[in-house]
Amino acid sequence: MRILAIESSCDDTAAAVLDPDRGILSSAVSNQDAIHSPFGGIVPELASRRHIEMVAAVTGEALRRAGCGLEGIGLIAATQGPGLVGSVLVGFTFAKALAMARNLPCVGVDHIAGHLLSCRLEARRPDFPYTALIVSGGNTALFAVENAVRFLPLGRTRDDAAGEAFDKVAKLLGLGYPGGPAVSRLAADGDPAAFSFPRARLGADNLDFSFSGLKTAVATATASLREGGHPLTPEELADLCASFQEAVIDVLVEKTLAAARRHHHRRIALGGGVAANPRLRSAMTEACADKGLELFLPSPALCTDNAAMIALAGYHCFLQGDRIDPDSDAYSRSPLH
Ligand code: KG4
Repeated sequence: MRILAIESSCDDTAAAVLDPDRGILSSAVSNQDAIHSPFGGIVPELASRRHIEMVAAVTGEALRRAGCGLEGIGLIAATQGPGLVGSVLVGFTFAKALAMARNLPCVGVDHIAGHLLSCRLEARRPDFPYTALIVSGGNTALFAVENAVRFLPLGRTRDDAAGEAFDKVAKLLGLGYPGGPAVSRLAADGDPAAFSFPRARLGADNLDFSFSGLKTAVATATASLREGGHPLTPEELADLCASFQEAVIDVLVEKTLAAARRHHHRRIALGGGVAANPRLRSAMTEACADKGLELFLPSPALCTDNAAMIALAGYHCFLQGDRIDPDSDAYSRSPLH
């Protein structure tokens, strides 16, 4: 069976065709960075308008690259939430309309379920169960992934998501949007110990995250360096980025390993845009090797928003009998938490 999936939860319009036996046949993504970067963050109204302009073209492109028409598709899957609800609605409504017009079954997929399973799209993939850390612009959470449809929430951020913290720090430092890649590029030349920024551990057994205090600490350090109207030197900028990044990563690695230990998991997987961060990937690789744990890192294109992961999660929803009807609504908060 070939699955056509559509994803539009945030600022990427994505479509993919997946054959569960053969793998990803195509994955097309149209990003909106150029539209949002002048504002230093995503403008929800502009995001949904752009999805409307792009959704048919991106879907057509995914079908073309897969070498099939809609007649070759057996299932349509679409992100139902969470995300910016105006954005989600565009892809979700488009998918429902397509399914109705073609008399195809349609499933609504939780975006987080897609990230939790994205590591299983790679040739080397984890068996169940595993501990998964999802780190994106909208979510930072730990889950025990028991099978392809059963996810146990273990911890989540109490304030900013990790990607949001990267984006806000980038904005503060004048690095533009999206900020994560810019901060991680500059961090590569900085000293991670130059500033001692706080790590919010929230108690020994706690698997929740908090990044707002760290963000404030970076703002305070930046303001004191800029006192008297001095612009930041390239060295100061690189050190601020490296020290901030290290504080985020220390906590992400520590809590992920604690979650795996508590649930007796020997496998760890990452997902979400921040999982593309090279320092997080290397720190997690070292920590897992040290503890004898297996680590599964999706390729960067499967970490950031994509529709292939929605196709895979949708396929498993379909196998357990899920279907949506034309009245099903999009949601902005995930029931998985
Ligand atoms: O998963 P994603 O594409 O979209 C959602 O938020 O759902 O993640 C985007 C987030 C942004 O906050 C972006 O700054 C961050 O992932 N990101 C990174 C890196 N690449 C993307 N953060 C840190 N380092 C990176 N290399």
